[in-house]
Order: sequence, then C-alpha cells, then structure tokens
Amino acid sequence: MGKIGTQPGAEAKHKEVDIGFMSIFIDSANINEAKTALGLGWVQGITTNPLLLAQADMEPSAFFTELRKFCDGPIFYQLTSNTFESSIAEAHRVLELLEKQLVVKLPPTELGFKLCSELSSRIPCCPTAIYSPAQALVARESGAQYLAVYVNRATRLMGDGLKLVEDIAAVLEESQTQLLAASLKSTDEATLAFSAGAHHLTLPYSTVKEMSNHPLSDEAIKQFNESGRGLDQT
Ligand code: E4P
Repeated sequence: MGKIGTQPGAEAKHKEVDIGFMSIFIDSANINEAKTALGLGWVQGITTNPLLLAQADMEPSAFFTELRKFCDGPIFYQLTSNTFESSIAEAHRVLELLEKQLVVKLPPTELGFKLCSELSSRIPCCPTAIYSPAQALVARESGAQYLAVYVNRATRLMGDGLKLVEDIAAVLEESQTQLLAASLKSTDEATLAFSAGAHHLTLPYSTVKEMSNHPLSDEAIKQFNESGRGLDQT
C-alpha cells in the first residue's frame, strides 16, 4: 500500500495520513451520509466544498467535530477567504480543528496557487475546480499533493471530462501531485475516470451506494441463498 503524506521536507507540524495508493472519498457535508459511507470500509475520507457546507443542517465547525468521531482519513476543506493573509489565518483555524486529517482545497487562481506554494510544505493542498492541463502544471509546481478535476462538469461545459483526466494525468506523471477525479455523477463515470488516469475518486453519496451493486449479482446471490448449502446450514 502506498503512503501519501505531506510533501518532502514537510515540518512535523502536520503528520502523515496513511491512505491507500488509490482512495475513494465521499463528497458530502451531510453527517449521516458521511457516517454510512465511511462505515462501509472502503471509503477512506471525505471531500467537502462551501456549497455542500451551506446546504448542511449543521454549522461547519460542528459538522467537522462530529465527523472526526468516526472518520480517521483525510478531510478536505475548501478555503473561502479572499486575501492571502485571511486565507492563511483560515487555514490555521481549520488545521486546529482537523489536525493531521486536513487537506486544504484552494481555488485555482493566482491567489490560490500562491497559497498552495506557501502552505504545501506543512499542509497537504488540493487546488480544486481544475479544468485545464495548464492549471494542473501550475498545481504541480506549487507543491500540491492533490488536484481536483471536475469531470462531469467538464463534460457538460467543455465536451469531454474523461479526455481532460487523461491529459492531466499525463502532465502529472512522475510528480508528487495526485489526480482526484471529482464532480462524478455515476458509477460508470467513476470507473472510467479511474481508467483514464485518476489516482483517487470522490463520489456523491448516491454513487457510493450504487458502486457495489449489480442486479445480476443480486440474482446470483438469491439463488445461492435459496438453493445452496454451507457449513452453517443443515
Ligand atoms: C469535489 O471536491 C467537489 O466537492 C465536487 O465534486 C464538485 O462537483 P459538483 O458540484 O459538480 O458535484
């Protein structure tokens, strides 16, 4: 199992979070969804964004405090401040709250990439809403540990989100920046994004629930249960 943590030379302030080489996260700020998904055993962390947090029925700080009672993996939080100084202050506030689990999401703007360069030696950073290989190169050069490509939105707005994943995976080769496929809306889109080169996937709750099911599997299992025999059966 690969180990993904802070950038080389990172200070001990932010300890490594061990996640698998490929990870599936849930994209949600709903505490019940998060609990169910993280309880499945194969969902390793959670991504949030300001819109998801605005729709939640809990205050963000209460949500994150509750979340940490059952989530041991990475927790992605997107900064919302508009200046360099206030963003650094916000990053430190959220670091207090989430400690080693924090991954800071940043907008892919001049300010966002400058913040990424500043913070990435101490806190894993994830420029988000990435739509071009050029932005991916800048993220790589800014020391980002992840970058979030908006796959479904790119398909809707630009034509081919999966090709975008492929192109971005190519510019990230042999770098420490990992491609997180986001804005995924179906199980097929999720698996195709992985095949196109994504290292990690973040999925809405509905897709998390669908990932392990198939009607033909249900049919096969029904038959085993109805007509089969094992050690426990007489
Ligand atoms: C990822 O971290 C984002 O929260 C998310 O996937 C955004 O995409 P959407 O708003 O299209 O679902």
